[in-house]
Amino acid sequence: MTKILCIGAGYVGGPTMAVIALHCPQHLITVFDINEKKIAEWNSDNLPIYEPGLLEVVQQSRGRNLFFSASDIARHIDEAEIIFVSVNTPTKTFGQGAGRTADLQYWEKTARMILEHSSTDKIIIEKSTLPVRTAQAMENILNTNAKGLHFEVLSNPEFLAEGSAIQNLEKPDRVLIGGHDTPKGQKAVQTIVDLYANWVPRDRIITTNLWSSELSKLVANAFLAQRISSINAISALCEKTGADVEEVSYAIGRDSRIGPRFLKASVGFGGSCFKKDILNLVYLCESQGLPEVAAYWEQVILMNEYQEARFVANMVSSMFNTLAGKRIAIFGAAFKANTSDTRESPALAVCRGLLAEKADLVLCDPHALENARVDLGEDASRVTFEKDPYVAADGAHAIAVLTEWEAFAKLDYHRIFDAMVNPSFIFDGRNILDRAKMHEIGFNVYSVGKQPLLHFKQNSTD
Ligand SMILES: NC(=O)c1ccc[n+]([C@@H]2O[C@H](COP(=O)([O-])OP(=O)(O)OC[C@H]3O[C@@H](n4cnc5c(N)ncnc54)[C@H](O)[C@@H]3O)[C@@H](O)[C@H]2O)c1
Repeated sequence: MTKILCIGAGYVGGPTMAVIALHCPQHLITVFDINEKKIAEWNSDNLPIYEPGLLEVVQQSRGRNLFFSASDIARHIDEAEIIFVSVNTPTKTFGQGAGRTADLQYWEKTARMILEHSSTDKIIIEKSTLPVRTAQAMENILNTNAKGLHFEVLSNPEFLAEGSAIQNLEKPDRVLIGGHDTPKGQKAVQTIVDLYANWVPRDRIITTNLWSSELSKLVANAFLAQRISSINAISALCEKTGADVEEVSYAIGRDSRIGPRFLKASVGFGGSCFKKDILNLVYLCESQGLPEVAAYWEQVILMNEYQEARFVANMVSSMFNTLAGKRIAIFGAAFKANTSDTRESPALAVCRGLLAEKADLVLCDPHALENARVDLGEDASRVTFEKDPYVAADGAHAIAVLTEWEAFAKLDYHRIFDAMVNPSFIFDGRNILDRAKMHEIGFNVYSVGKQPLLHFKQNSTD
């Protein structure tokens, strides 16, 4: 039996360790977090995050070889042979690199905590997404100890996507493990390869040097976000020219060199990672004297911000250039379907834009209202939070669909239309509605990258 500790019980630490515990009943896994409330929730059936299938996986191992703890960190660290670190690494908001590079304070505190409580050698695994060469800093902190201990630092970035985390962890496209090309480094890499090999086919476990592994995570997210920004840029051109972005996506996606996935135009990408990781990449390029490379990747973020702003501007101009005092139902707060996560959600960016226009907002989401309230900060007091979409749309001038929850596509839009103010507008920021049917019901329908379907003539200056 190997004792494994994971520090950080968030969107990554919790699900990742639950799946490892499920497939490795021979190992004892403890997930530690400083947030006591979160740990109490992990120990209940009301988990701190919404993720399809997660509760079932947790329930199979919890109390057997999976434990969640907010205390006794000294003992947990000392007993562990392998420590995964999956603490948050948000964008720095102060000092040098503010708004760009990663804030490594939680990371460094964790390293010092590990050092303080260790009396044996350990493998330390970077699960968090980090700037390239962070492992070097980690090693410098850990291995300059007076205790004569050796800590082998590996990089094992997590590629799960929220909303499908369990599926991704169960059947990953690949697992990436980076380590030093030294006997100790390679021995540690093999230990972690063997751990994953309990359920992941060997040909899906990639091993690289440390820096390639750290960089690959940033690059993977940059490429994924780039595809979204690319198709969103084209959606703006479609709206101007009469091309339909879904037809364009389909036509280009049939080219096997391009492929069909991640080509859906929308109000924009969100989540805690894409923007943060690209900013990180941009900062890295700038600090390495590569301003052209930095500018290239920064454009992915600027395009996303443009798409969010364009969505709001389109709502304003379509609704007769004023939203002041108009009730608008916002369908969706989560940054994507099947998650409760609202970090960097385009839905909240649109809400802020609409609040600036003095619109009267009712925000509706099946799982993310609690997080939305927190993430909206001071603006939350100007928003009504409503779980029932029919209540949210009652008396509204417009609906904006901002998260692709399946439930929003299945609502009774006849009933909704009858309870709304005329003329009624629907802005589908995710292209999930049957637009012809919506138009037939009586809505003025705006989709991303398509011509609007209206019941009146659009102002020729629009
Ligand atoms: N969310 C994702 O989809 C995703 C996917 C891949 C990688 N990542 C990366 O994984 C890392 C974690 O992301 P997340 O979404 O799980 O973050 P999160 O905010 O959900 O969880 C991080 C947890 O770490 C805890 N923590 C912070 N400092 C601690 C300390 N000293 N001791 C114990 N616990 C501590 C926090 O309380 C929090 O619960 C980030 O680097 C992120 O970029 C996230």
